[in-house]
Amino acid sequence: MNKTIFITGASQGLGKVTAKLFAAKGWIVIATMRNPEKETELSQLSNVHLLKLDISNAKQIIDVVADAEKISPIDVLFNNAGFGLAGPLEAVTNSQLEKLINTNLLGTIFVTKAFIPFFKKRNNGTIITTTSSTAYIPYPFIAVYEATKAALENWTASMSYELGRFGIDTKTVVPGYMQTNFGNNGEFVSHPDYQEDFNKYIKVLKSEIGSISDNPEDIAMVVFEAATDNKKQINYIAGNHATKEVEWFKKEGMEVVIQTMKERFFDQK
Ligand SMILES: NC(=O)c1ccc[n+]([C@@H]2O[C@H](COP(=O)([O-])OP(=O)(O)OC[C@H]3O[C@@H](n4cnc5c(N)ncnc54)[C@H](OP(=O)(O)O)[C@@H]3O)[C@@H](O)[C@H]2O)c1
Repeated sequence: MNKTIFITGASQGLGKVTAKLFAAKGWIVIATMRNPEKETELSQLSNVHLLKLDISNAKQIIDVVADAEKISPIDVLFNNAGFGLAGPLEAVTNSQLEKLINTNLLGTIFVTKAFIPFFKKRNNGTIITTTSSTAYIPYPFIAVYEATKAALENWTASMSYELGRFGIDTKTVVPGYMQTNFGNNGEFVSHPDYQEDFNKYIKVLKSEIGSISDNPEDIAMVVFEAATDNKKQINYIAGNHATKEVEWFKKEGMEVVIQTMKERFFDQK
């Protein structure tokens, strides 16, 4: 029988590429997004079902999970929706912080929580969450974004204790930079006291990002591996950039990483 995956944030980027990959592999795909009426590509695929879901809307999550389960019992939940917020904390409003945490962290947890009774009843289910290599290697000026991703890393590992005995696996896919519109889709704030450092950081990042970013198609393959390998593996470091970064972190440790990052971004002549 065909398996079914439920994907959040399937309108673009990694979520959309993953929806196309699983559909091509013959899976039933429940592709959720904030504006399904705008989707023109996934809507052409007979084994893809579009549902409207904003993961910061707790009430909508309950209804959409129930609707999805009626379409087809879900085997794999792919928690992928998220966005970035860049700039100094001092310049971020509290409502921006709440939106970021309510989406990336709480939204992901709420979606997962809504699926647990269904997965538990079937004694089966895989929960895969997109985190980020910034959960390991901190980058400047995205501290709260990476805090949401680091929190999801620990949350996923810890959930394996309570869900493992019900046949439910919890996993993270950990990309580094990906060639998606993530940067442009994010929110930016500024503050004059930090502007010089922020400009230096963005300049270096812009000069490097083209050569270090991975294709979302390669990361989607890792999602497929995590969904199908039947392993109890929790973290899937995905793509060249994340692999390099996480290996560096494990070899050198946090102090060396932070010092090297400071020199890389702020000591440019
Ligand atoms: N690109 C990178 O360099 C990178 C690196 C590491 C990790 N990641 C992570 O990878 C995941 C996918 O990002 P991406 O690179 O594919 O970026 P993207 O192209 O900007 O896609 C992000 C997706 O999340 C959706 N989304 C945002 N807020 C949402 C909400 N409240 N409810 C439902 N959907 C929401 C967006 O929907 P709309 O179309 O409606 O905006 C979009 O479908 C994210 O979790 C991101 O944090 C990205």
